[in-house]
Amino acid sequence: MACKRGALIVLEGVDKAGKTTQCKKLVQALQQCGRPAEMMRFPDRSTTIGQLISAYLEKKSELEDHTVHLLFSANRWEMVPSMKKKLEQGITLVVDRYAFSGAAFTSAKPGFCLDWCMKPDVGLPKPDLVMFLQLSPSEAALRGQFGEERYETSVFQRAVQQKFEQLMKDPSVNWQVIDASQNIEGVHNNIMDHSLNAINTAQNQLLGELWK
Ligand code: TYD
Repeated sequence: MACKRGALIVLEGVDKAGKTTQCKKLVQALQQCGRPAEMMRFPDRSTTIGQLISAYLEKKSELEDHTVHLLFSANRWEMVPSMKKKLEQGITLVVDRYAFSGAAFTSAKPGFCLDWCMKPDVGLPKPDLVMFLQLSPSEAALRGQFGEERYETSVFQRAVQQKFEQLMKDPSVNWQVIDASQNIEGVHNNIMDHSLNAINTAQNQLLGELWK
């Protein structure tokens, strides 16, 4: 019998919500309970496309807004063959940001609509679960200053949050909102529960296509 596929699990959220910490903890916890799991993150700055994006985020280069949007999307598409292969091998992928960040960040810029921003990512592997780590702007501020990269200002982050709220209204995606104001273990336990459910459900389902 073919092995059961892994689940595609995505963590999204505003800055300082603890996505990266929680992705790492989730992968460790899944591995410890005997479920093969690997972490991925977007942008993946290691590829040629990822390096262009990284230089842009670090403000070492300028790119036209549509162009950089398409590069973020291309950076996901270039990973699709290896993602599919791993999922087929039964490995659960825990992904730090995905197409939802892509659509939310670009559509928060003047002159962009959400619909256009979603288009290049239509048909990507559809996550079995997307957890949105929710944190109010005042709680995020208590966690320290924003960094130096592009987009790291409170005004822009608020606009991004509104775009995420629009994306979360889409019932075709399995969104779960996680209260990220709890302590690290509390958030983790919540995330682990949702993930185990998603892994069990995904085993018996074909991988879907996003926004199709
Ligand atoms: P990331 O490397 O995850 O940094 P952070 O530690 O701040 O989460 O993300 C880099 C930035 O790129 C972040 O501000 C979100 C933005 N972004 C996009 O604009 N489009 C995208 O498609 C993705 C994945 C991220």
